[in-house]
Amino acid sequence: MLYKIAHILKEKIPFVWAMIEKVNEFLFLVRYGRRIKSIKVQYVPEGYELKAMRDVSTEMMEAFFRHQPKDAYSFFRPHKIDAESIRKLQKNKSYLAYVLIDKEKNNLAGYCFNRCFFIGKGFRGRMVDIDYRGKGLGTSMNKILNEVGFGIGIRLFETVSKDNIASYRSAVAASNVRIVEELPNNDLYLEILP
Ligand SMILES: CC(C)(COP(=O)(O)OP(=O)(O)OC[C@H]1O[C@@H](n2cnc3c(N)ncnc32)[C@H](O)[C@@H]1OP(=O)(O)O)[C@@H](O)C(=O)NCCC(=O)NCCS
Repeated sequence: MLYKIAHILKEKIPFVWAMIEKVNEFLFLVRYGRRIKSIKVQYVPEGYELKAMRDVSTEMMEAFFRHQPKDAYSFFRPHKIDAESIRKLQKNKSYLAYVLIDKEKNNLAGYCFNRCFFIGKGFRGRMVDIDYRGKGLGTSMNKILNEVGFGIGIRLFETVSKDNIASYRSAVAASNVRIVEELPNNDLYLEILP
């Protein structure tokens, strides 16, 4: 329900959504701010560095999104990928977003996030750079998102298309899941279980 309302507001009445995001950020920090500071992550794959998205440049994020083929966006539509939208997300403290940097090449290899709500729910998403697919980074990022979300004590959800096999498999490989609802367009609304 929350998921559907959020989508309708974001698409149809963006200024209302922007206000809700501000209020949510404030209340999320009141409730979870202290716990965020003590997040510990173990599942960073060998050869990569995990950084908060706010600690990399907006230009680097833009270049990452530009580098992906068109079909990478068939199932990935959580937010806009222009500089202004990325900058807003980098500032939003309820948007817990991370990147994996290939230490040898200094490439941004993957991006993932928990979009968190003060009511104790978070929504996961991720994208692996086209040159780094199939190496387990998607599964690692799911584990990282679980460590972050469950670490601060929220429930985690995501939508996965039944047609997005890599995404579904990486979700299942990282944790047990519960199908909350079958959505239109072949999408599954999943709860990620600790
Ligand atoms: C979904 C995505 C993040 C997976 O990342 P990845 O690093 O390539 O995935 P992994 O290497 O961790 O593989 C995860 C599983 O998917 C399988 N897989 C990976 N690519 C696959 C493909 N093209 N076809 C079928 N299965 C595939 C792997 O074999 C593995 O399965 P297993 O655990 O049963 O062995 C990546 O494909 C991507 O960025 N897609 C575009 C954005 C997107 O759709 N994001 C998800 C929606 S928010």
